Amino acid sequence: MRNILIDCDPGHDDAIAILLALGNKEKLNIKGITTVAGNQTVDKVTNNALKILEFIGEDIPVAVGATKPVFNSLFTGAESHGSSGMDGPELMEPKIKPIDKNAIEFMREVVSSSDEPVTLVALGPLTNIGLFLLTYPELKEKIEMISLMGGAYEGGNVTSCAEFNIYVDPEAAKMVFNSGVPIVMSGLDIAREIQIFDYEIEKLKDEGKVSNLVRELLEFYSIASKRFGFEGSPLYDVSSVAYLLNPEIFTLKHCKVDVETKGELTRGMTVVDIKAKEEEKNAYVMFDANREVFSNMIFESLKVLDKRV
Ligand code: BDR
Ligand code: CA
Repeated sequence: MRNILIDCDPGHDDAIAILLALGNKEKLNIKGITTVAGNQTVDKVTNNALKILEFIGEDIPVAVGATKPVFNSLFTGAESHGSSGMDGPELMEPKIKPIDKNAIEFMREVVSSSDEPVTLVALGPLTNIGLFLLTYPELKEKIEMISLMGGAYEGGNVTSCAEFNIYVDPEAAKMVFNSGVPIVMSGLDIAREIQIFDYEIEKLKDEGKVSNLVRELLEFYSIASKRFGFEGSPLYDVSSVAYLLNPEIFTLKHCKVDVETKGELTRGMTVVDIKAKEEEKNAYVMFDANREVFSNMIFESLKVLDKRV
């Protein structure tokens, strides 16, 4: 059983990543969820996280994090995720509330009080995690790894070379990649392999309440994904949870990754050196994934949740 803390900005794919973790409770012990400004303002993404938890009937602590990136002003993902950050399904306004502690203090509490190491799952800009590692460096040794979605070996989705989560807060990302904590980076290079197609989304209709929620999420999300040139919907964030459940389906290379913070045209780019010296390598970067196993893992987990809700 692995202890995890999910830092996120739901976000359609963040929401499905949370559901995948909730559907695998025998393998993943979710100690809490922290939210960060990214796809939308922190208030909106926190509300979305609470909506998902209330829908499933889960009582997991949610702590609110950074309202903006360290230096940048907030650039949101409204183009893909809509004005609520999770447009599509009509979910009830949640009755549950965030805890009375900010994300960084909550991370400190969870990591320092855990007997076992904790894995951080980072699905949004790295603001909270960067600030946490800067504030409590003595807790790094209790972090087993950071499984993060962000960056790319090649290309970008906001600029020609920057991926959204890194582009939003390059300084925080730089702190995280240079922290010395083991990192597994799921970037844009595997986007085509982690797509869900319309024919699969349609099948979710009659499966149960949770599957139907995911269908509604993906019906909205797939419209934006197609505008970006995808045939289906790439479930970026889901890969960072899927890796923890079944690492064998991903092909990784141990690399040196740093973040460009100064370039006029390249700010927010992850610079991935696949030929770095052994001692310089700081991240395992995903280069390939088995789509069939990945999508089956999601559908099977949704079935588990459909029986629970
Ligand atoms: C990342 O950006 C966000 O819009 C998604 O939730 C994901 O975390 C993909 O570039
Ligand atoms: Ca996200």
